[in-house]
Amino acid sequence: MQTILVINSKGGSGKTTLATNIASYFAGSQRKTALMDYDPQGSSLHWLQLRSTKAAAIHAADAAVQKGKRMRSLQMYVPEDTGILVIDAPAGVDGVLLQEMVKKADYILVPVAPSMIDIHATADFIRDLLLKGGINKQQTRIAVVANRVRKSMPVYRPLERFLQVLSLPFLTRISDSDQYILAAEQGTGIFEMDAALVATERKEFEPILDWLDPQADRQDGRPENVVDFGRLCSGA
Ligand SMILES: Nc1ncnc2c1ncn2[C@@H]1O[C@H](COP(=O)(O)OP(=O)(O)OP(=O)(O)O)[C@@H](O)[C@H]1O
Ligand SMILES: [Mg+2]
Repeated sequence: MQTILVINSKGGSGKTTLATNIASYFAGSQRKTALMDYDPQGSSLHWLQLRSTKAAAIHAADAAVQKGKRMRSLQMYVPEDTGILVIDAPAGVDGVLLQEMVKKADYILVPVAPSMIDIHATADFIRDLLLKGGINKQQTRIAVVANRVRKSMPVYRPLERFLQVLSLPFLTRISDSDQYILAAEQGTGIFEMDAALVATERKEFEPILDWLDPQADRQDGRPENVVDFGRLCSGA
């Protein structure tokens, strides 16, 4: 099983957006996929509930620590034949919970929004992750993605500088796009939507897939045999 952790202690950086789109990509590529939500807000699990029964199946695993409850093991269950496990982390996570998630991860993806506040918080988070996260560097790969980059401001100098000083790979810039909001509302992802509407989003997302899934044969940034969820919904 390949485990992909999407994490940043900064709230609203795009963890759930990346986690759900990655899960929908792999599920659409005929990979047995599970999405594990550590966030008590349950955004990823909510997205799964919105998902059409006709769309490629994604197993839901609830790993959130709810107030007053300690037992998590049953809801955390992931089927044995799962090929891809995507973990959506909550904001503000540290300590034992951070280590628990990091220990599971083969890949750690850190989304960062282009604002001074987000960049500072993310720099602190990455430092904590490297120092206290318990990463086994030989096994775990870490990369950064800029998210919600505005078209009017494609280059943001503080972000450029931040990414330059990191000795971690910077994979791509994801634009601020209504398509991600639509996908979130429909329980789908950009690789399941009408290709003509999401060509830019797919192109920007592709470096993430190249990093996670280098062997895949992607035509036009789209996995083969994927269900066209947009068409399914519109009945075309
Ligand atoms: N590239 C994007 N384009 C447009 N909207 C986006 C993009 N990325 C995220 N959003 C929107 O921004 C909001 C925050 O994104 P998201 O929920 O993915 O962040 P998060 O890091 O999971 O937040 P939290 O820390 O609360 O869990 C959501 O409403 C989401 O739809
Ligand atoms: Mg979230």
